[in-house]
Amino acid sequence: MVNTIEFIEDAVEEIDEQVGEENAVIALSGGVDSSVAAALAYRAIGDRLTPVYVDTGLMRKGETDQIRETFSYMDSLRIVEAQDRFLDALSGITDPEEKRHAIGEQFIREFEREATSAEAEYLVQGTIYPDRIESEGNIKSHHNVGGLPEVVDFEGIVEPVRELYKDEVREVARELDLEEIISERMPFPGPGLAIRVVGEVTREKVEIAREACHIVEEEVEEHDPWQAFAAVVGKGTGVKGDNRVHGWIVSVRSVESRDGMTARAQELPWETLQRIQSRITGENENVARVVYDVTHKPPATIEYE
Ligand code: XMP
Repeated sequence: MVNTIEFIEDAVEEIDEQVGEENAVIALSGGVDSSVAAALAYRAIGDRLTPVYVDTGLMRKGETDQIRETFSYMDSLRIVEAQDRFLDALSGITDPEEKRHAIGEQFIREFEREATSAEAEYLVQGTIYPDRIESEGNIKSHHNVGGLPEVVDFEGIVEPVRELYKDEVREVARELDLEEIISERMPFPGPGLAIRVVGEVTREKVEIAREACHIVEEEVEEHDPWQAFAAVVGKGTGVKGDNRVHGWIVSVRSVESRDGMTARAQELPWETLQRIQSRITGENENVARVVYDVTHKPPATIEYE
């Protein structure tokens, strides 16, 4: 990318031309891509943009409050409390692709209702270049591309950051003065914590994953990974007090990457790993074991499902 200031001017002008006098809607996810797309679109068309944030209950710790605060200047912001509906939709499902599908379907239902009531003719999306490549290769279903455009009969799709890589989107975010917690935020998958708990999604597993992800993010921040998180991968024995218990196993992952297509497991200091282990087992009495994932991508993927 040549110049962020020029990029922003051009993008705003292009959105303005494309949308004209109509209304638009965007699904805000809390991540940097959709945040930048929303900020650009809002500059172009103001409150004719309805940013919709759906709280699926599968978001990172504090994410919903962060969104509320960061985008409070947008009067049209809508926050949809859909936590229980997502958990219900996921009940009994163990297959990873079925989970993605259930989340995608529920998301579409929530979003369709909001888009219809906003009378939006245009859909703004924070699709970036690697999303398009992975979607073309059909590597993951329910990536950022696909799904939404077919639901509501939109007149057009607006993708202001479609040619950018993640690091370029971050540059634009900084230039737009988005808070650091957003501009520097690690990527987070659309299906959220559901793919960081192996097997059925339950409230208990999601809560453990959410707390553990938060601990990992805090502890590894100084090592500047591309993505770092924790996942609940199963159960195993442990000892709490004088008793043997059957507790959760949490796997910690921290990787270096440019765009998520390949990745290297990060070599973290032993002290950092021990601090993570002691915080996770200390703060969650049902966690019996913490392991560190040393696998690169390939052969592993970054997420667990
Ligand atoms: P994997 O696990 O395939 O992840 O190595 C590569 C990057 O994509 C993210 N990811 C997803 N993002 N929907 C998304 O929007 C998904 O279903 C999904 N699965 C993985 C992952 O977090 C990593 O950044």
